[in-house]
Amino acid sequence: MKLPFVVLLSAVTSCVSQSTVDSAPIRTISLIPSATPTLVHSHPWRHNRTRQSQHVHEFFRLFGWLRRNDTIRDSDMPAAIQKIQKILHEPETGEYDDRMDAVMSKPRCGTLQPYNETDAKSNSTMHKKYVLWGPKWDHTTITYQFINYTADLPADRQRIIISYAFAQWTQYLPITITPSAANAPHADIHIRFMSMGPNETAYAFTNLIADGTSLSTGLINITFNDDWNWTDDRMFNFTATHEIGHSLGLSHSKVEDAVMWPYYEADIRPMHPDDQAAVHSLYGWKNPRWKRIDNNSTTKSIVQLSSNSTTPALLDGLYQMRSSGQILRFDTPSGTWASVDNNKDTIQIAGAGGALYQRHTDGSIYRYTPTSSSTWQYIGPSSDNPIDIVAAADQIYQRRKDGWIARWSGSGTTWNTIEQPSVNSKQIAVTESKTLWNLLSSGDVVRSEWPYGGGWTIVDQNAANSAIAVGGEEFYKLQTDGSVVWLDMSVPYWRIIENAGSAAIYAAGKYLYSRHGDGSIWRYTGTQLVWEQLDGSVNSVAVVGDRRGAVWELLGTGDVLRLVS
Ligand SMILES: *[C@@H]1O[C@H](CO)[C@@H](O)[C@H](O)[C@H]1NC(C)=O
Ligand SMILES: *[C@@H]1O[C@H](CO)[C@@H](O)[C@H](O)[C@H]1NC(C)=O
Ligand SMILES: *[C@@H]1O[C@H](CO)[C@@H](O)[C@H](O)[C@H]1NC(C)=O
Ligand SMILES: *[C@@H]1O[C@H](CO)[C@@H](O)[C@H](O)[C@H]1NC(C)=O
Ligand SMILES: *[C@@H]1O[C@H](CO)[C@@H](O)[C@H](O)[C@H]1NC(C)=O
Ligand SMILES: *[C@@H]1O[C@H](CO)[C@@H](O)[C@H](O)[C@H]1NC(C)=O
Ligand SMILES: *[C@@H]1O[C@H](CO)[C@@H](O)[C@H](O)[C@H]1NC(C)=O
Ligand SMILES: *[C@@H]1O[C@H](CO)[C@@H](O)[C@H](O)[C@H]1NC(C)=O
Ligand SMILES: *[C@@H]1O[C@H](CO)[C@@H](O)[C@H](O)[C@H]1NC(C)=O
Ligand SMILES: *[C@@H]1O[C@H](CO)[C@@H](O)[C@H](O)[C@H]1NC(C)=O
Ligand SMILES: *[C@@H]1O[C@H](CO)[C@@H](O)[C@H](O)[C@H]1NC(C)=O
Ligand SMILES: *[C@@H]1O[C@H](CO)[C@@H](O)[C@H](O)[C@H]1NC(C)=O
Ligand SMILES: [Zn+2]
Repeated sequence: MKLPFVVLLSAVTSCVSQSTVDSAPIRTISLIPSATPTLVHSHPWRHNRTRQSQHVHEFFRLFGWLRRNDTIRDSDMPAAIQKIQKILHEPETGEYDDRMDAVMSKPRCGTLQPYNETDAKSNSTMHKKYVLWGPKWDHTTITYQFINYTADLPADRQRIIISYAFAQWTQYLPITITPSAANAPHADIHIRFMSMGPNETAYAFTNLIADGTSLSTGLINITFNDDWNWTDDRMFNFTATHEIGHSLGLSHSKVEDAVMWPYYEADIRPMHPDDQAAVHSLYGWKNPRWKRIDNNSTTKSIVQLSSNSTTPALLDGLYQMRSSGQILRFDTPSGTWASVDNNKDTIQIAGAGGALYQRHTDGSIYRYTPTSSSTWQYIGPSSDNPIDIVAAADQIYQRRKDGWIARWSGSGTTWNTIEQPSVNSKQIAVTESKTLWNLLSSGDVVRSEWPYGGGWTIVDQNAANSAIAVGGEEFYKLQTDGSVVWLDMSVPYWRIIENAGSAAIYAAGKYLYSRHGDGSIWRYTGTQLVWEQLDGSVNSVAVVGDRRGAVWELLGTGDVLRLVS
């Protein structure tokens, strides 16, 4: 294998005075291997074709992959099982295994999704996981009524649980759902209990008649199977939450942790971001989600300092830089901005680890020290070399025109250069533990561990790599096709967490944000491919966050907004 790095131990062509070079032996270069899927063990029921076929058919009908009267031929069964395994993120062996059986032996919802040919024929799970029926309510005050009750639970308790289940969905929606007046002849949504016959494994189903765009009064029935004993009201609680999702216009989700996943558990699954994304896509939000905290058209960048300790550090907070070079800090209690510097030479600010820095047009670098008399400590001499400063962990780095990376030594104006890859650096990012990740202009990703004497290790060689981001100890990369990939270091294995659309990624603590080409802002939920939409298509140019999940965006108009709900 070709060694793409030249390690320079001498001949340092640095314009920074007193530079020193960390000694850097060449070290073994290893590519991170892919994971090999492991197979689960065999069980006697694996030979029971009747059971497998029944479960696979049910699964297909729950997702609208089968016309009601169609069946899957035995010869197509392995392909059908593979399709399910994709959803369950299992190795696609085409063999019905323990985990599939465990999932599908659970009681399920009886609501069958309308046949969707695109979905049925697609082998891909690479799209948003929630599914909508299509229609939604066209009025904002919706009513429900009980047609009858089960004898298993006091009627009062049933009313409380149903009302709670509705609130689970509507608390952030601009709609209200209440019981209809006692003497009303009908309501929008009817709730009833009915025997479904001894063979029916469904706990409940919701049927609806809709004209394609709106849901219609009196035609939506949530029917609970009265052959089940509902005395354990936890199951009633969860079943109701799921069915109510249907009554608002949601179909089954392909996210196993979502409320709208069609199999039931004894305990309620909390509302998942996938459920929330689905319902908000239909009804929007109750309150405005963003609050404008500034609107000066000359604002060029924002920076968030967020210490990792429980007590905020002195300089923690939000900063902005204007095209005039002015730097301001947001004072949360008063909601105003205070100037911390005003120098026309300032062209960049960066901050991390409780420290704020600025870079001037002449290449000089300064550190904010509000407690000392000089206020801004001169730490980097002027030079045409620095093209970018990156603050990370408790360090400040500069990327330089000559391709080098240098790190401030912590005293005076001394910078230590970090051994130079032969290919120029395009972007660097640093973990809390100070592992330095370097995206090269070739697309290769290399990393060096603190204190950087050990050389660079190649982690990826892919010309499609276009940007990197680090949050805490996690590493992410963006590719030119708009996909976002997370390095699961426990395997290690590259996992695609977004398949398309991303134009920029930002990480803060345990949070990862993505800006799409259309300007919309998304936050990763931790479930592969599932992102929560934070803002619509706005002209956003940057997103910053703190470690506790607070997030701000800068728009192209110079507006600075904070996420408030
Ligand atoms: C196979 O599974 C079906 C459906 O679950 C069940 O009714 C049948 O008893 C099973 N057969 C055997 C031999 O276990
Ligand atoms: C499905 O089968 C039932 C009974 O066999 C029949 O009445 C119904 O018309 C069929 N539906 C379709 C869509 O073929
Ligand atoms: C079928 O599913 C695809 C993908 O989930 C969706 O885009 C499309 O609108 C659906 N078609 C119908 C008729 O619901
Ligand atoms: C899906 O997979 C099946 C079997 O692997 C294949 O026959 C079919 O052409 C694939 N469909 C698409 C749309 O890729
Ligand atoms: C339903 O279950 C959730 C989660 O277990 C619980 O917080 C809630 O109080 C339950 N609702 C009622 C009405 O008991
Ligand atoms: C509830 O009403 C339905 C008709 O809508 C009926 O079929 C069912 O038997 C009733 N259930 C009870 C428990 O009364
Ligand atoms: C219900 O189960 C019984 C016994 O397993 C079977 O004979 C009958 O055909 C089933 N009925 C339906 C509608 O599936
Ligand atoms: C809901 O139940 C009522 C009777 O209680 C019935 O008239 C209506 O057609 C049902 N709606 C659907 C969609 O099945
Ligand atoms: C339902 O379960 C409860 C508690 O397990 C029991 O006391 C009650 O008799 C059961 N009801 C029926 C109709 O079986
Ligand atoms: C936006 O700008 C106008 C005019 O400069 C000012 O009056 C207003 O208070 C600003 N709004 C915010 C939220 O900053
Ligand atoms: C915008 O910011 C610039 C630089 O700080 C300042 O000079 C100007 O007055 C601001 N404009 C408004 C409308 O506040
Ligand atoms: C907090 O950050 C500092 C430097 O920024 C680092 O030395 C320390 O290990 C971090 N602590 C935790 C708990 O991550
Ligand atoms: Zn369902």
